[in-house]
Amino acid sequence: MAEKAKVEDKAVKVDKKSDKDNNSSSKGEDKSNKSRKPTAEDLAKGQRDISVAEFFEKNRHLLGFDNPRKSLLTTIKEAVDNALDACEEAKILPEISVEIIEMAENRYRIIVEDNGPGIVKEQIPKIFAKLLYGSKFHRLRQSRGQQGIGISAAVMFAQLTTGRPTKITSKTDPNKSAHYMELHLNTQNNSPEIMVDEVKPWDNKEHGTRIEMDLEAAYIKGDQSVDQYLKETAIVNPHTTIIYTNPKAEQFIYARATDNLPKEPLEIKPHPYGLELGILMKMLKNTEARTVNSFLLNDLSRIGPGTAKEILEMALIDPKKKPEEMGMQDAEKLIKAMKEAKIMAPTTDCLSPIGEELLEKSLKKEINAEFYVAVTRPIFVYRGNPFQVEVGLAYGGNQSKEDQVQILRFANRVPLLYQQGACATTKAITSTNWKAYGLQQSNGGIPTGPLTILVHMCSVWVPFTSESKEALAHYPDIIKELKLAVQEAGRKLQLYVAKKHRVQNQLERANLFERYMPEVADALSRLTGENKQLLLDQLKAMTNKDEIRQQIFEMEALKGEADAEGKTDRNGSESDDVEDSEEKHQEDDE
Ligand SMILES: Nc1ncnc2c1ncn2[C@@H]1O[C@H](COP(=O)(O)OP(=O)(O)O)[C@@H](O)[C@H]1O
Ligand SMILES: [Mg+2]
Repeated sequence: MAEKAKVEDKAVKVDKKSDKDNNSSSKGEDKSNKSRKPTAEDLAKGQRDISVAEFFEKNRHLLGFDNPRKSLLTTIKEAVDNALDACEEAKILPEISVEIIEMAENRYRIIVEDNGPGIVKEQIPKIFAKLLYGSKFHRLRQSRGQQGIGISAAVMFAQLTTGRPTKITSKTDPNKSAHYMELHLNTQNNSPEIMVDEVKPWDNKEHGTRIEMDLEAAYIKGDQSVDQYLKETAIVNPHTTIIYTNPKAEQFIYARATDNLPKEPLEIKPHPYGLELGILMKMLKNTEARTVNSFLLNDLSRIGPGTAKEILEMALIDPKKKPEEMGMQDAEKLIKAMKEAKIMAPTTDCLSPIGEELLEKSLKKEINAEFYVAVTRPIFVYRGNPFQVEVGLAYGGNQSKEDQVQILRFANRVPLLYQQGACATTKAITSTNWKAYGLQQSNGGIPTGPLTILVHMCSVWVPFTSESKEALAHYPDIIKELKLAVQEAGRKLQLYVAKKHRVQNQLERANLFERYMPEVADALSRLTGENKQLLLDQLKAMTNKDEIRQQIFEMEALKGEADAEGKTDRNGSESDDVEDSEEKHQEDDE
C-alpha cells in the first residue's frame, strides 16, 4: 500500500509535464478524489469564456491604470482625445473644458465637456460601459482613438475604485433636449447597466457631451501630469481651445491659435506594400468584388488597371478568377507579385500632419528658445499602413545646458508622457549622432544640451506597444523614417550653431582689434605723418562691427514668442547666457 501511494504521488507530480506516465494510474483502482488524477473532462469543468472586461479588470495596468497619478491622466486623456476626434470628424472647432475637483484624500471628480456632435441616446450605454466598442477600429483613418477601449476603461476604473456610476449628458441638436444617463459596466459579461435614464434641458449648449466620474487618483504636477498633457495637447492642436481647472482651482486657458481645422484625413483602403497573408485571405473572403481583378482595383489603394494587370501576370493568376476561389497558394503568389510591382505611395490626403510652418509656430509660442526648425517627411508605408513623421527642434534660450534634452513625443496629435525608454522615437533619437550637431552625447544616450526635440508620428494605424498607448513599437521602417527626420532637422540646427560660432568669433576679434586701434593709429601716424584721427576712422571702418551686430540681431530675431518665465525651464535654471553655451559647443566641435 505504501508503495502504491508512492507511485501515485509520483504520477500526480509529473501529471502536468508528461502524458506517458498517465497510463500507470489512470487504470484507477483508487477512485477517491484526493488521489485521482484529473481527466480532461474534469479540466473542462473549469474552462470557460473570459469576458474582455474581466480580463482588463485584472490587468488594468495594460490600459494605463497602474498607479493613482497615471489613472487620473489616462482618464482625462481618454475623454479629451475622444472629444477632439469627435469635433474634428464633425468639422467643429473644438472647445473643451476639463475640471478636476478633489473630493477627499485620493478621490477626485473629473468633468470633461466638449462642443462636439454629441452621441445618440441608444449608443451612450455601449460607448461608455462596454469595452471594445467604437467607431474607429474597423477603419483606416488617422484618429486619436482606435481600439474602442478608451473611455469605457476609464468608466470601469472609476466604478472599481469608488463604486460610483459615470454620469453622461449628451445633446445632438440645438432644438432637442439632452439625454442624461448614469451607467455601470457589468464586467462579468462586458455590458452596460443603465442606472438612470432621463431627458434633461441643457440650455446653454447647442450640442456636445459631458462626462462626470469619480475615481481614486492622485494629482501631482510635473512632467507626467494632466497639466503637462493638456499643455502639450495645445501645442500640437492649435485649432483647439482648452479651459482647464485643476484641483487647486487654478485655471489655465489655452486659446486656439488658428480658426482653421486641420486638413481632414480621409479613410483609406490598405496599401498593398507590407500586406500580410492572413489579412489578404480575410479580405478575399469578405470582398464584394466578383473577380480578383476588381478586388485589386477596389479593395486596395493605389492599384490602377495597368498595375493590376502587371501584378496578375506576374502571379500567373487569371484576372477573372473569383476571389472566393483564391487558395492560400494564389494569395501567396499575389503578395509576392504586389511586392515586386511598382505601386505608387499612398495619397497624401489620408494623413494630416501638423506641417512644418505650424509646428515651428507652436514651438515658438510655448518654448523660450532662440532657434526653431521643423521637418515633415514624405509619406511611407509599414505593414500596408501609411505613416508620416515630423520633427521640430527648439534650441537655446533659457533651456538648461547641463541636462538631457527635453523630448516631446506625439502620436496622431496625442502627447505620449510615459514609457519614453520603450518608444521607437527615443530609439531614433539615441541612435543619432548629436555631437555632429553641436550637442553633447555619451554613447547611445539621450543628448545633453539646451534643446527640445518634438517628434510626431501620424498614421492611419499607430502601432503602440500596449493598449495604454504610451509608446511606439519598434518597427524598423518607422525607426528609419524617424531617424531621417531627426537627422534632417539636426543638420539645420548644426548650420545655425556653426553660423552663430562664426559671427561670435568675428565679433570677438573685432573687439580685440578695436582695443588696440588708438595705439596702431598713433604708431602709423608717426611713421607716415598722416592725420591720426583720419587713420583711426579708416581702421574703424575696417572692422565692420555694425555689420556683425546686424547679423547677430537678425539671428536673434528668430526667437520665439514664449515669455522668459521659465515656461519650459524644467530645472529652474534661470541662465539665459547664449554665448556660454556656444562656447561649450565650440569645444565639442573641436
Ligand atoms: N465625446 C464624444 N463625442 C462623440 N462621440 C464620442 C465621444 N466619446 C466617444 N465617442 C464615440 O465612442 C466611441 C468609443 O470611444 P472609445 O472607447 O474611447 O474608443 P476609441 O476612441 O478608441 O474609438 C468612439 O469611437 C466614438 O465613436
Ligand atoms: Mg477613445
